This record gives sequence, structure tokens and C-alpha cells, in this order.
Amino acid sequence: MDILETVKIRALAYGDLDAIVAIDKALLGKERPEYWSMKIELTENRAPMASLVAELDGSVIGFILGDVSGWEYGVPDTIGWIDIIGVHPTYQRKGVARILFKAMVANMKKVGVDSIYTFVNWREFDRLNFFDQMGFQKGDLIHLELKLGT
Ligand SMILES: CC(C)(COP(=O)(O)OP(=O)(O)OC[C@H]1O[C@@H](n2cnc3c(N)ncnc32)[C@H](O)[C@@H]1OP(=O)(O)O)[C@@H](O)C(=O)NCCC(=O)NCCS
Repeated sequence: MDILETVKIRALAYGDLDAIVAIDKALLGKERPEYWSMKIELTENRAPMASLVAELDGSVIGFILGDVSGWEYGVPDTIGWIDIIGVHPTYQRKGVARILFKAMVANMKKVGVDSIYTFVNWREFDRLNFFDQMGFQKGDLIHLELKLGT
């Protein structure tokens, strides 16, 4: 069966902490409850409906954390950001990230966002391919780096 028929998208809530920590552990191999607690608390002050979860039969299987720019890096408030998107490995390649992304975009459009930015390591081809498939092009921001020697 196509799981997308039963997947529900809803706003992220603090109660999703444990599920997100578990997905993150499945993706990264390490548990980061303090990091996620802080991240989810911050979303409460962010653009409403820019941070969403995908639920299957009452369990959270994926999430997207987004925000609308507050002129950080000189980027205007018509720009939305994707901070992080993750889908539990068991449910990947079934279109879950695509529907999370599309729901976030629809919500951002309603508040006047006309472009979405994100950063991806150019060597991470799977992630690049995902964003390519979502319609992203290379943007105008450049990443500056200063190496701090020991
Ligand atoms: C990237 C990620 C969110 C994609 O989630 P997903 O639910 O599997 O993605 P979808 O099924 O919606 O994929 C949509 C399209 O993106 C592309 N894509 C997704 N995952 C891909 C992968 N691992 N390799 C290559 N292309 C990929 C495919 O074209 C896919 O369509 P297809 O399956 O019909 O070919 C998921 O792999 C993940 O959680 N990765 C770890 C965290 C991460 O890298 N996040 C992104 C940066 S914050």
C-alpha cells in the first residue's frame, strides 16, 4: 500500500521530542536529546507552520524544520529557510520528505515567502539530488570560511 495515503502532516509540537530524537539517532547513530529539546523550543518562536511532522498511524516518521528569514545574512523576509529535514530510514524513498516539503512551502507562500533557501554540502549527492528533485537551483549566497589554525 502507498503509505502516503495514510501519512498525515501536522505542525511540530514539543511532545514530538522523543520521536525526533529516535529518528535522528536512526539517521546519525547518536542520541542528542538536549540538542533537539533546544531546537524544538526555538521553533515555538519561529514562523508558524514552517516546522512540520509526518505521522503514520500515530507515529512520527519524518520532520521538517523551517523558518522565515528575519534578515539574517542580509536575506529579506520574503525568503524561507529549510533548516533540517529528516525521514526515518525505514520510510525513506516513499515520498514522505516530498510531502513535508510541499506542505511547508504551501504554508510559507501564505505568509508572503517567494523563495526558499537551504545549505547542502556539495559532496553529499543524495541530499543534493533530493533538493534538485524539489526544484532547487544553485543560489546567490556564497559560503565563506575561515580556518582557525591550532
Ligand atoms: C533526504 C531525505 C530527507 C529524503 O527523504 P525521503 O522521504 O526518502 O525523500 P522522498 O522519498 O520524498 O524523495 C523524493 C525524491 O528525492 C530524491 N532522493 C531522496 N532520497 C534520495 C537518496 N538517498 N539518493 C538519491 N536521491 C534521493 C529522489 O529523486 C526521490 O524521488 P524517487 O524516490 O521517486 O526517485 C532523507 O534521505 C533523510 O532523512 N536523509 C538524512 C537527513 C538529510 O540528509 N537531510 C537533508 C539535509 S537537512
